[in-house]
Amino acid sequence: MKIKPLLAVGVLLASHPLLAKDHKVEIEFDVDQSGPLIHKDIYGQFAEHLGRGIYEGVWVGEDSDIPNTRGFRNDVLNALRDIKVPLVRWPGGCFADEYHWREGIGPRNERPVKVNTHWGGVEEPNTFGTHEFFEFVELLGADAYVNGNLGSGSVRDMAEWMEYMTGEKGSTLAEERRKNGREEPFEIAYFGVGNEAWGCGGNMRPEYYSDLYRQYSTFLKAPKGNMPKLVASGGHSEDTSWTDVLSKNIEQKIDGISYHYYTLPNSDWDNKGRAIKFSEDDWFNTMTRTYKIDDYIRANLAKLEENDPEGDIKFYVDEWGTWYDPEPERDPGFLYQQNTLRDAVVAAVNFNIFHEHAERVTMTNIAQMVNVLQAMILTDKEKMVLTPTYHAYGMYKVFQNATSIPFDIDSPEYQKGDESVPAVTASVARGEDGKLYLALVNMDPENAAGIELDIDGVKAKRAVGQMLTADAMDARNTFDKPDVLHPVAFSADLDELEIPAKSVVVVELQ
Ligand code: AHR
Repeated sequence: MKIKPLLAVGVLLASHPLLAKDHKVEIEFDVDQSGPLIHKDIYGQFAEHLGRGIYEGVWVGEDSDIPNTRGFRNDVLNALRDIKVPLVRWPGGCFADEYHWREGIGPRNERPVKVNTHWGGVEEPNTFGTHEFFEFVELLGADAYVNGNLGSGSVRDMAEWMEYMTGEKGSTLAEERRKNGREEPFEIAYFGVGNEAWGCGGNMRPEYYSDLYRQYSTFLKAPKGNMPKLVASGGHSEDTSWTDVLSKNIEQKIDGISYHYYTLPNSDWDNKGRAIKFSEDDWFNTMTRTYKIDDYIRANLAKLEENDPEGDIKFYVDEWGTWYDPEPERDPGFLYQQNTLRDAVVAAVNFNIFHEHAERVTMTNIAQMVNVLQAMILTDKEKMVLTPTYHAYGMYKVFQNATSIPFDIDSPEYQKGDESVPAVTASVARGEDGKLYLALVNMDPENAAGIELDIDGVKAKRAVGQMLTADAMDARNTFDKPDVLHPVAFSADLDELEIPAKSVVVVELQ
């Protein structure tokens, strides 16, 4: 393998210990076979009114000293454009079921100030509302996923919000939107009918929620060609009852069922685990907890196969990511956490799993975009840091709308005691640009892996692309040292392909 070192991290890597024979991974595929499309929306993001996710992170206002475009931070906009964010979900989360859309339209200085009771009890100025959200996604070149309020809003509120956003002519609500500065209807790709109805969205049972879904969705109407995909709020973690009941009870106007899964290293909400300065056991637990989503998705998809064998109802993982203990000196309600190489590996493991289930898993949103949980970007006043997770998204963007290629993989296990995960997982796909891409992630923090490829249908000789890794498991970018970790160029002959321990590699096979 020839690693072309770029900056500091690349130099460290060139001296990485070579692998032992038993760390060999075999991958076999035929490039003439194709699997499902890897929908670009698998790379969606979640932006909630939570902590500094929206205010400070995205929106600083037109009068800010921080360079901005009509109130949106330029640095954040540019960074998000670079990773081709395809979709943004807003306004929550738990916040969505407390959000009343009328409070976020009209002159900004006349909007009511509320208390964000769910997240930190801080003032919610409502200066970022419907128009600002659509302006933001349009500046990004992304699609919009709006989450409606079923928990504390009425059927009428939800129906009128839809009409306000999408109405064309002859309606007072569409005129009101025009008066507020937007002539053309907004385009909504997805609309969520409530969020986490089993918890913060109303503490319901799936039977009751599915009746409410049927009722609310009946009144969600939009002009032809601008009707969003409707998302029923589903279950989480190992639970399959929501997918089961919803897919049995809801017969009309449903495009997908949502599902949430967070990686907590300790599986304990009172002691989740640290974001930095963690042990190898913590790393291992993070990997095993992350990998569990594969089983959970399979179990949910099995329910969908039973109840919807035609495959009409998609499975949207519209919240996922790592969730660690809050930093001691910060407001625990803000869910701000650092982000390390471990998070990039977690992201890549999830991408590979989503690709494998791309037939039904056509949309996911990492939680969250800026300054909250497993963020792409951290900000501190005028400073911005791109996280390792951001870089994983950048490396994997070639998989957006790629056609997956089925493959067999035989990997050694990364094991401790009775528990294990495959050390290496992968994705193979034909990109929209016609090129053949391979992604590899090595969860083992100690051992490099040799990759043996058996490819039918094409004579590829070299792997050329990018790699993300570091010596320390918790390597990270900080406001003082913002560029410790970034992808470096990677190239290797295929008969000598090796990837380092704890690494993410995305290459074109040439
Ligand atoms: O992402 C943070 C919160 O996690 C969301 O508001 C909620 O839907 C989930 O419980």
